[in-house]
Amino acid sequence: MRFDVLTLFPEMLGGYLGQSLLKLAIQRGLVEVHTHNIRDWAKSKHQNVDDRPFGGGPGMVLKVEPVVECVEAVQAAASPPGRVVMLTPQGRRLNQPLVAELAGQGRLLLLCGRYEGFDERIKEILRPEEVSIGDFVLNGGEVAAMVVIDAVIRLVPGVLGDEESSRQDSFSGERQLLEFAQYTRPREYRGHKVPDILLSGDHPRIARWRAEESEQRTRERRADLLDDEE
Ligand code: ADE
Repeated sequence: MRFDVLTLFPEMLGGYLGQSLLKLAIQRGLVEVHTHNIRDWAKSKHQNVDDRPFGGGPGMVLKVEPVVECVEAVQAAASPPGRVVMLTPQGRRLNQPLVAELAGQGRLLLLCGRYEGFDERIKEILRPEEVSIGDFVLNGGEVAAMVVIDAVIRLVPGVLGDEESSRQDSFSGERQLLEFAQYTRPREYRGHKVPDILLSGDHPRIARWRAEESEQRTRERRADLLDDEE
């Protein structure tokens, strides 16, 4: 799986790319992440990538030419071309089905904005998939792009040591449920005990307990996920 991140602040990704699971996936050749500085495609002497909005108003708007030309050059630099994903609070809200859809793409170009937003013609020309990581406004798309990469690579075969563990994640089964409670040693800590059933060795009963636990948690904390099933 290949990611190309187009940003004005490529250095924001540095620390993240060097962390354990992703670093290992890159070393094993399962994932590639390339960063590209949109400013390198700026035409003016001062390398301006933003300008004041027509019609007035606060803030600056990302210019159409450097963004479109950066995307075109990055697409041409490797094949096949990738799906262009624009990180914006106006996009489709990221959830596990969308993560799975993106993981099926093979190559993604993640386009990160700054300032007040993108010149609308960037969307008209590139027809990106617009994705939001939640109903709040970040200072730019970089953190959102890292969220997308972090969620997507879990679904790339071989990235997780144990393939079963991504299938057991919250939201990842056929139904969108929260994960059941997990415990490890010790069996008791400050009077808090591990439920007896998990120590019973009766695996069909444990599986049933976990399924009920998932359902109950989801009903208590995220009833909206159960409503979505109807
Ligand atoms: N850029 C700014 N806010 C964002 C959000 N909520 N999701 C994705 N990209 C963003």
